[in-house]
Amino acid sequence: MNPIKLSCYVARNLKYSGKVIWRSFLGECHSWRAKANDLRCDRNLGIRTVGGSESKNSLGSEGDGIKYLGQDYASLESMIDHLGLGAEDVFLDLGCGKGRVICRVGMEPIKKSVGVELREDLVDIANDNATLLKGRKTEVEVVRGDACDYDFSDVTVVFMYEPFGWKTLRRVLANIEESVRSNPRRVRVLFSRTEQFGVVLDMCDWLVPVGAIGHTGILEWKTSEL
Ligand SMILES: C[S@@+](CC[C@H](N)C(=O)[O-])C[C@H]1O[C@@H](n2cnc3c(N)ncnc32)[C@H](O)[C@@H]1O
Repeated sequence: MNPIKLSCYVARNLKYSGKVIWRSFLGECHSWRAKANDLRCDRNLGIRTVGGSESKNSLGSEGDGIKYLGQDYASLESMIDHLGLGAEDVFLDLGCGKGRVICRVGMEPIKKSVGVELREDLVDIANDNATLLKGRKTEVEVVRGDACDYDFSDVTVVFMYEPFGWKTLRRVLANIEESVRSNPRRVRVLFSRTEQFGVVLDMCDWLVPVGAIGHTGILEWKTSEL
């Protein structure tokens, strides 16, 4: 190969690899900063939720459960600011894992903060966290069970951080719809990391899309007039 062509080729490839390495370095910095913030927020609340969970996916009745990972606190704060929760709100986290979201929401003066979780080991951790939580403003309850079987009759806000696939999601949405039709009320549905599942929520004619909450990756829908 012509030496000039060869050096151009090497320089181009070095530039490309440099960009890839730089981007992955920035990504690592971002995730370490987020993790440090999550640890700090856990400490402030007196709970322990950081870290994934070693054991395999929890499958659930539809076999599509997704393993534990906590919603980052920075997004959680933006979501809580946006929601402006009030004394009549019952907040539900479907697939609550170690209870990070329900504990943080438990710092708001609302009616109740509830989490449903399939895996017994995570339910135990979430219960410990609910007990340890410092400065709660409301009851924080953890229910062991499958999201498909939950009774939504008093719930006003449903939060999901990519807990399961579309089969479970469709059953859950049908149950929420039934509860809203038998007791018409405003219900807000929030789904975090909706890349694949937003379309399932968009297909519900009883829900109106509200939009994204800032840069959190959390999307909101609310009940239309029934
Ligand atoms: C991505 S984690 C979200 C945890 C929590 N919402 C948070 O942000 O801290 C999803 C959780 O959903 C649970 N899960 C999966 N399928 C479920 C089902 N059918 N019913 C209840 N929980 C389920 C998993 O065990 C896991 O803990």
